[in-house]
Amino acid sequence: MATTLTRAPHKTLPIIFLLLVFLVTLLLFSKRSIDPHLPIYTSTDPYNPLPDPQIPHPDSISTEKPPILEPKSTDLELLNNDSILKNETGFVESESVDQNPFVESNSDESESVKDDDLIVEKSSVLDDEWVKKSVDWGRGCNMYSGKWVRDDEYPIYKPGSCPFVDEAFDCQANGRADEDYMKWRWQPDQCELPRFNATDFLVRLRGKRLLLVGDSMNRNQFESLLCMLYESLPNKSKMYEINGNKITKGRGYFVFKFEDYNCTVEFVRSHFLVREGTRINGQGNSNPTLSMDVIDKSARRWKRADILVFNTGHWWVHGKTSRGKNYFKEGDYIYPKFDAVEAFRRALKTWGKWIDKNMNQNKLVFYRGYSSAHFRGGEWDSGGTCHGETDPIKTGRIIETYPPKMKIIEEVIQEMRFPVVLLNVTRSTNFRKDGHPSVYGKNVTGLKKVSTKKEDCSHWCLPGVPDAWNELIYATLAAAQTN
Ligand SMILES: *[C@@H]1O[C@H](CO)[C@@H](O)[C@H](O)[C@H]1NC(C)=O
Ligand SMILES: *[C@@H]1O[C@H](CO)[C@@H](O)[C@H](O)[C@H]1NC(C)=O
Ligand SMILES: *[C@@H]1O[C@H](CO)[C@@H](O)[C@H](O)[C@H]1NC(C)=O
Ligand SMILES: *[C@@H]1O[C@H](CO)[C@@H](O)[C@H](O)[C@H]1NC(C)=O
Ligand SMILES: *[C@@H]1O[C@H](CO)[C@@H](O)[C@H](O)[C@H]1NC(C)=O
Ligand SMILES: *[C@@H]1O[C@H](CO)[C@@H](O)[C@H](O)[C@H]1NC(C)=O
Ligand SMILES: *[C@@H]1O[C@H](CO)[C@@H](O)[C@H](O)[C@H]1NC(C)=O
Repeated sequence: MATTLTRAPHKTLPIIFLLLVFLVTLLLFSKRSIDPHLPIYTSTDPYNPLPDPQIPHPDSISTEKPPILEPKSTDLELLNNDSILKNETGFVESESVDQNPFVESNSDESESVKDDDLIVEKSSVLDDEWVKKSVDWGRGCNMYSGKWVRDDEYPIYKPGSCPFVDEAFDCQANGRADEDYMKWRWQPDQCELPRFNATDFLVRLRGKRLLLVGDSMNRNQFESLLCMLYESLPNKSKMYEINGNKITKGRGYFVFKFEDYNCTVEFVRSHFLVREGTRINGQGNSNPTLSMDVIDKSARRWKRADILVFNTGHWWVHGKTSRGKNYFKEGDYIYPKFDAVEAFRRALKTWGKWIDKNMNQNKLVFYRGYSSAHFRGGEWDSGGTCHGETDPIKTGRIIETYPPKMKIIEEVIQEMRFPVVLLNVTRSTNFRKDGHPSVYGKNVTGLKKVSTKKEDCSHWCLPGVPDAWNELIYATLAAAQTN
């Protein structure tokens, strides 16, 4: 766009021509921004108002190929088996997660203010002993090397029974017929996980605020946790969003209160954990930037929580970071070109410093590791698929895959003073090619033909895989008192 404008003719040409050029480029720009994303997220863009969640979004059946295809991320190839390996397809780090930073609004900023009024009684003496024990156990037991075992008592909540699952993850309601994917329990090799007990979880949360911070993967986990806890409540109306908000991908902040336990479970969206901003370029257009050295605005909310669960990662790709051009920022300096992986490292260090400075021994902080995607035969925007997968992977190279970004997280956590518990779930997710919504991220019941052009092989159906992550959190909390 910039070049078009600078090459625009001189004053001698009619001003109308300039206007035309501008309009055309504007059109191209917004198209480019909207197209290369999964249908479930295009609905959040301000040019394209949020549809009724029951109605399939029209974009979702679009067969148009997006104009820009990203290069494959070779470090993250997750492969189903060796025959697929040879075709050089399979997992490409998803760019399908969450909204497009180009078009994202900060609309959730305005709705937040009231949360200061939220009355959650702090226990006057926070028992930091439980935190210490949780951390010790979380770090001592390797819960992450293990296997999925079939368990007919699963899922923990019935599909369709939970009002907090948004359409994108509500696979059974959307027409998915197979059910086996909900019947797997994660079984560590070296330690026993306690059976999930929602009442007990809530008792342990009494007087506390649990906050999930991150991208739509964490929203996925957040909805799962709400469902797992909701299931156990004898009186369901004693749990509610304090502002009456319904969960949608367009909103960035939710606080659910459990009245009988004086506790909350909250989510705040923060794609990068560091601060997104904008700059005005030479042509007067507003472009996104990311300050690697400044913590995200939502951090003021992080401070108030007692238990925090962070994630980031899926947005650290070319397509979501302006291809690293004039995007990454340090101080006032905007790098003309900067590598997304190095930016990720610096941002996480910023996060680590913030945690070290602002968290005390009464807080329990988790970082939930990278959740793997499974695209077969293409990428998320070019026909990659996981449709028809009904069983976890049993063997193969795919299971060993461990992304470089996870190594960076490990490094950063090791250098920190504050003892963050790494929920190292990546390996467990590698197995679960059967757990994604694929085409069931929207209601396809009754449709004659289901489009397989764009599938969601990044997020997870609920009930499903994120339930296991919450069981790990529960196990960590529960360990504090059984040790
Ligand atoms: C590997 O994938 C290919 C293509 O999806 C399939 O035909 C083949 O049966 C698979 N092999 C194994 C061992 O799963
Ligand atoms: C999905 O669509 C079918 C057929 O149009 C409809 O009967 C069903 O109620 C829909 N399900 C949901 C969860 O909206
Ligand atoms: C779950 O926890 C509650 C509260 O600690 C306890 O009363 C109950 O017996 C537990 N249920 C099971 C099945 O262990
Ligand atoms: C459930 O909770 C609501 C709100 O506190 C209350 O009005 C209602 O009476 C309760 N219902 C039962 C059956 O206890
Ligand atoms: C919860 O908080 C309310 C006031 O906000 C208080 O009256 C009540 O005793 C508390 N309940 C428990 C179980 O701590
Ligand atoms: C892999 O490539 C072979 C031939 O090169 C082709 O027949 C097969 O369909 C491909 N498999 C996938 C999953 O793309
Ligand atoms: C996390 O799990 C991977 C295996 O998937 C392992 O290689 C790595 O060392 C683990 N990291 C930590 C900190 O336990």
